[in-house]
Amino acid sequence: MRLDVEKMLGELTVEEKAGLCSGADTWFTKAVERLGIPAVMVSDGPHGLRTQKEKRDGQYVGSVEAICFPSGAALASSFDRSVTERVGDDLGQEASSEGVHTVLGPAINIKRSPLCGRNFEYLSEDPYLAGELASSYVQGVQKHQVGVSVKHFAGNNQETRRMSISDVVDERTLREIYLSAFEKVVRTAKPWTLMCSYNRINGTYSSENSWLLTDVLRKEWGFDGIVMSDWGAVDDRVESLKAGLELEMPSSRGVTDKEIVQAVSEGKLPMSVLDEAVRRLLVWIDKGLQRRTESYDKDEHHQDAREIAASCAVLLQNEHHALPLTGDRGVLFVGPFARTPRYQGGGSSHINSHLVTGAMDVCPDGVRYLPGIQDNGQKRSPKRLKEAVEAAAKARAVVIFAGLPESMESEGYDRSSLDLPDCQNELIDRIATVQKRSIVVLYNGSPVTMPWKDKVSAILEMYLGGEAVGEATVDLLFGLENPSGKLAETFPLRLEDTPSFLSFPGGHLEVAYQEGVFVGYRWYDARKMEVLFPFGHGLSYTSFAYHDLEVEKEGDGAVVRLRVKNTGRRQGSEVVQVYVAPPASLVPRPVKELKGFSKVELKPGEEKEVSISLDFRAFAYWDGKWRVTKGAYRILVGSSSRDIRLCSDLSLDGDGPVSLVVGRTTTVRDVLESDEAVPAFRGMMEQVLKMVGNEPMFRETLLGSPLHSLQSFLPVSYQQILAMLGRSGDA
Ligand code: GLC
Repeated sequence: MRLDVEKMLGELTVEEKAGLCSGADTWFTKAVERLGIPAVMVSDGPHGLRTQKEKRDGQYVGSVEAICFPSGAALASSFDRSVTERVGDDLGQEASSEGVHTVLGPAINIKRSPLCGRNFEYLSEDPYLAGELASSYVQGVQKHQVGVSVKHFAGNNQETRRMSISDVVDERTLREIYLSAFEKVVRTAKPWTLMCSYNRINGTYSSENSWLLTDVLRKEWGFDGIVMSDWGAVDDRVESLKAGLELEMPSSRGVTDKEIVQAVSEGKLPMSVLDEAVRRLLVWIDKGLQRRTESYDKDEHHQDAREIAASCAVLLQNEHHALPLTGDRGVLFVGPFARTPRYQGGGSSHINSHLVTGAMDVCPDGVRYLPGIQDNGQKRSPKRLKEAVEAAAKARAVVIFAGLPESMESEGYDRSSLDLPDCQNELIDRIATVQKRSIVVLYNGSPVTMPWKDKVSAILEMYLGGEAVGEATVDLLFGLENPSGKLAETFPLRLEDTPSFLSFPGGHLEVAYQEGVFVGYRWYDARKMEVLFPFGHGLSYTSFAYHDLEVEKEGDGAVVRLRVKNTGRRQGSEVVQVYVAPPASLVPRPVKELKGFSKVELKPGEEKEVSISLDFRAFAYWDGKWRVTKGAYRILVGSSSRDIRLCSDLSLDGDGPVSLVVGRTTTVRDVLESDEAVPAFRGMMEQVLKMVGNEPMFRETLLGSPLHSLQSFLPVSYQQILAMLGRSGDA
């Protein structure tokens, strides 16, 4: 059944039109039975279906049983578009089977601070990686004629005062860091909907920010779907409708519907604006009506979740080849997470999981277990500690399961520290003191400090690996799977080192994005800071060699080709990362930025060619528009952002000199470096510089002189200089 949108638009009353612009309740839109417009259901995501169908006393309770996949932070560590596409594919199938019209995900806000309570749900500190992986996820879901809602657009980078705080952020930082992942998804995957964020941006709520929702999203990026609000994010419904927000969620119990009707009757809201919003809503509703109801096998999806969790895991450290374990004899697992893993986050993404497995459920029979601390993972137990340390001393190898309890990170509040619970740090330290072969497995949604790092042999980061994380952990520990994940965020040494340390989470009203574009590795690289583990880092049970790098221009971009060889004795996958280092420029730019990646699977001794295309945006920065300056770019290819294996230079003509608005304070140097430097001006200045000679002080003073001051040193007035530059006298 299709909706005849234009016909219906002509038949809807203004009250019915207004009613379509807000939910019927928490999860459904309103129906208009009279015209055959159905109510449709939306459900969270993003890494599992949280569909609520049961009501008690008028309130939704519980959610249907579904598969809990690895959370966003884990998925991003796969550095694998086929992984996020597979999760999207499974989710689309599950959504279709439950009658869900649109899944509320992916969540792609950039990780400005590791303290953000919701970072477990988000993908990365890097917008290129986030945009690429989210695009594949969207394509996976939408091929089932199920929609997505890419969230939270934009700048929702903290939980503290998330519904009112105003991000104070310059446009270049927005464009290059906080919007560009959304832009990639909109342009590449054509999501049915976006979800606007709670927060304000430079004083204006995202829900009524017409620059964001109309000028940028629709006019520049060509978005043709609808924008829904985050739940309770609308402040002024009429203003938000004008700005480009079609659907307010959840229901406002008719309050804002009446505001819309009144605004139309008073001439404050043109009917054309309401009609355009309703047209978009009807098109969105109609898209989902093509969906054929699918069924799915929960055990099959659980197996998918197991394989996906294994491909997301990051082997951070593996001294003396402590991993993989050779056999279960004398192996001891310690820590409550070995029995009851922390595998998902708290808040709207919390799933009623089909089947949760802990490592102890599936490990070989010879493995012994001891808790070591209290069962909640947060309190020490002297008796259990003593017992675990004594057993560890006699074991052949010990695996300590550690991580962040849900109380330390969740939607709704931010973390206050990067530390694990003290009892866990003590447990790891005490065991590592008596056992050389100590291995730490981490179940956490965001970076933690590791004071015991140099005392343990191996560290395996599983993140919140979904319901099958126990099986995936055992598969990796015993070598049935080979780790291939890479960190999608930096693990800093200290909270004080982080880019937003002095400004996060801001005051009562505002949070200043003082670090600008220098988020994550961009910050640590620019300041040449040591980190615990760098962006892009991840080890394997095998090794890889890179050779034969070639970089060739192609159109306004380039193609990077190289060969990668598996130089070890077991099959494995390597994520080849391509970073672009720009030429020196007046505009402060990151030392290098990730602009390409490809995951390649290789048998022992096998080698393959890897080819990665770079478009012009790989070289561009925002300066009122996307610009590529002339100069030599360095292409860096590596196994992590700090393990660069090959590099090559590429000279680009760029899009010409920096455009300049010439005025009294424009310096001689800026004119000479811009496209305003006409031959007459250039010739005159070259004469003067020759007279000045090579004395740096005089040269620099002259080059740094503003145009208005030249008449004090040269027989030429400011007006004559403007005329020479072809400018009228009012510049
Ligand atoms: C929450 C979240 C959003 C979620 C929505 C519905 O507040 O911010 O991500 O989709 O409400 O649960």
